[in-house]
Amino acid sequence: MRTTSITQRLAGLGGAKWDLHLAARERRERGADIIEMTIGEPDVPLPDQLADHAISALRAGRTQYSNGRGEDDLRDALAEAYAQRRGRTFDRDNVLCFPGTQTALYAVMQGVAETGDNVLVGDPLYATYEGVIRSTGADMVPVPLRAEHGFRMQAEDVAERITEKTRAILLNTPHNPTGAILQKQEVEAIAALAVKHDLWLISDEVYEDLVFEGTEFISPLSLPDVADRVIAVASISKSHAAPGLRSGWAIGPKAFMDALLPVSETMLFGNQPFIADMTAAAIREGSPVAAGMAKRYAARAAYLADRLQAETDLRVHRPDAGMFALVDVSPLGMDCDSFAWTLLEQTGVAVMPGSSFGEHMIDWVRIALTIPDDAMAQAVDRISTFAQSVVLDPEPDA
Ligand SMILES: Cc1ncc(COP(=O)(O)O)c(C=O)c1O
Repeated sequence: MRTTSITQRLAGLGGAKWDLHLAARERRERGADIIEMTIGEPDVPLPDQLADHAISALRAGRTQYSNGRGEDDLRDALAEAYAQRRGRTFDRDNVLCFPGTQTALYAVMQGVAETGDNVLVGDPLYATYEGVIRSTGADMVPVPLRAEHGFRMQAEDVAERITEKTRAILLNTPHNPTGAILQKQEVEAIAALAVKHDLWLISDEVYEDLVFEGTEFISPLSLPDVADRVIAVASISKSHAAPGLRSGWAIGPKAFMDALLPVSETMLFGNQPFIADMTAAAIREGSPVAAGMAKRYAARAAYLADRLQAETDLRVHRPDAGMFALVDVSPLGMDCDSFAWTLLEQTGVAVMPGSSFGEHMIDWVRIALTIPDDAMAQAVDRISTFAQSVVLDPEPDA
């Protein structure tokens, strides 16, 4: 059977990245003592208020067809919230609703790039970005995010990679997997490049509500100079511990949203009104769980960093937001894959090799901060003992 080029462009993406995670799951199901720190799921259940809102909306019959933009009341709620957060005026025409950030990003990418184009994106990167870009026919151009710059994208690195073919820069701030937040002057410098070279700026801000105390998030959506070229995508997946409800959105220029509407309509044939009602209430009421998650994830990151740095040669990159911390395993003379697989074999602790997140993370592993504190302490005991047991090969004779 013949399939189209999109299936070939996306074939193979995704698979091997998850090998270690799947192997750990399989062992756990067979009864092995596994501490899973591979993927990040919120460490709290869906808040009761959200379940109540969704159930009342279901009972009120909010299960009819909606429309391709999303329910007016949700778009109003989002416009109000963004106006307040970004200090600019938005109205419902700036918003399209989607089932999650992922679908929003997919649709937005179809609206900005196609075959022959390039899209710039930071590397390391969230696992699905390459597929989202390649689905359009465009090529992904990785911009290295360097540990010495706190893994924050630098405008010089972006500028070097802009060509006639570049159509868009995909930002992710706060960032997965590094937990880095772009600083104001960095966002401004990248925004200036977008203006100079007439590029779209797409900003994945799904971790905005999981920013740790003492750090500040700044979105390119708050910069008036790029108002006509910034599209932000986000959802309630992280902020409200609701990843399975699939409720997200894109917010940006009205003309872009109008142009994208037929794409959304063709994909979705409208959104789900009961999910929209629940999301509108969630946005207006604010999250009852985000602050607690941010506090716990920050505390676990600090615990991990303090202990591993005191007890081992491992180096921990302290995140500013999100659900993950990165650990540099190169001082042990290992790359990320050999570290992660040997750690799993010998201790049952499962972490993600950095190679799953791009070309530039070969020395790093990603650790999810979403497991309970006692499991975290046990995992750190095991990682620490393992790291201390690794004997570096002696330097070859000169
Ligand atoms: C950076 C990033 N973007 C998007 C998503 C997907 O979010 P959603 O559940 O809203 O589709 C994730 C999920 O982990 C993520 O880490």
